[in-house]
Amino acid sequence: MSLSAKPPTSNIDLFTDEALLEPYELYSELRELGPLVYLPRLDVYAVTQYEAVREVSMNWEVFSSARGVGLNDGFNKASEGVLICSDPPDHQVMRKVLQRPLLPNRLRDIESFLRDEAANIVAQVVAKDTFDAATELARHLPLTIVSKLVGLGDYGRDQMLTWAAATFDALGPMNERTAAALPTAQEMVQFALTQARPGTIDPDGWAAALFAAADRGELPAQKCPFMVMDYAAPSLDTTILGTGNAIWLFAEHPDQWDLLRADPSLVRHAINEALRLESPIQRFTRLVTEDHAVQGVEVPAGARVMLLFGSANRDERKYPRPDVFDITRKPSDHLAFGTGEHACVGMNLARLEIKTLLEQLIPAVARFEVVGTERLLNNLLRGFASLEVRVNAEVTS
Ligand code: HEM
Repeated sequence: MSLSAKPPTSNIDLFTDEALLEPYELYSELRELGPLVYLPRLDVYAVTQYEAVREVSMNWEVFSSARGVGLNDGFNKASEGVLICSDPPDHQVMRKVLQRPLLPNRLRDIESFLRDEAANIVAQVVAKDTFDAATELARHLPLTIVSKLVGLGDYGRDQMLTWAAATFDALGPMNERTAAALPTAQEMVQFALTQARPGTIDPDGWAAALFAAADRGELPAQKCPFMVMDYAAPSLDTTILGTGNAIWLFAEHPDQWDLLRADPSLVRHAINEALRLESPIQRFTRLVTEDHAVQGVEVPAGARVMLLFGSANRDERKYPRPDVFDITRKPSDHLAFGTGEHACVGMNLARLEIKTLLEQLIPAVARFEVVGTERLLNNLLRGFASLEVRVNAEVTS
């Protein structure tokens, strides 16, 4: 007798504008149906609950990334070669080289550089009283890193943002948003193949170090242009949106900002809590390589599963009062960075960037007041395209 069950089915569409803007009720309905829910509109199995997302992420043999992590075959095929779309042993070879500048001991070397950059940008925006935290503040460190540390220079500094967001949109199901993003995402691939190469890039940067590693025989040379994009495409919007989301949460919950100002040692927990509650990457997919059961629910070989990080992080089975922003919660096991083989290789850098900014904001800002917001509409990402805030140096009320 089989102990596993067939998955329930749901007609919920997670890719309408309304669903992208407000997904949490829908996630909750899906979680109630079960850990794995078949979505016939997309012909995909949504992985909804925390333990199920963890289980799938930890099992790369059954849940493969090598045939893409998106929802349409065209872009999945075009993404073959980047780290995130590979399986071991290729994956381990690439990750070992790619992660070098992102390891904690190397990040210590750039801390003071980041602190100076953060101090400058925070002084500039705070002096204006009202500013766009999503653009004027949150973009500065990620773009500076790609330009100065990865070593891509000012070339494409602005285009890089358009390209990176398009890459995430292009991973969606074949809807209008995806179709519109595909040519732009393709431009980034062309840039990688033709421009982001020795001769153009900074010879002392992280990108150049990839080519040097290939020269030493540590990885195949043809992987390098794609791996340069691994430093750019997933590092920009994610960190930018994560920063904006954190500021928005603190604006909406001034008591939590007071708590952080009173005890800045809570900053790591605060960052994790903001990433848990408003996860910048909401979903990625895997291809199922053999018939399998996830938390007792069957999924057939050849199917695609969609990991719903944003749903897992609000699973009431895992986090009590999951919709509440509580910086004393300490949810270091959240899944906003994924887990397992493909856990975000840039997570320490991302945390360091957000921490460095918050540490500059803590003494300078007593209150954030939201003046206006515009949410980003993206197939995979969650956060603000614009987040206008007014800041006060002293609490006035
Ligand atoms: C708050 C910011 C960030 C968030 C929320 C985030 C989220 C994620 C997630 C969810 C994954 C897992 C993918 C999977 O399981 O398929 C991932 C992987 C990855 N991230 Fe990040 N990321 C962030 C920042 C960064 C930064 C700063 C970099 C680069 C410097 C980066 C580079 C990567 C790469 C290359 C992978 C693929 C890792 C692999 O396949 O082994 N990310 N990220």
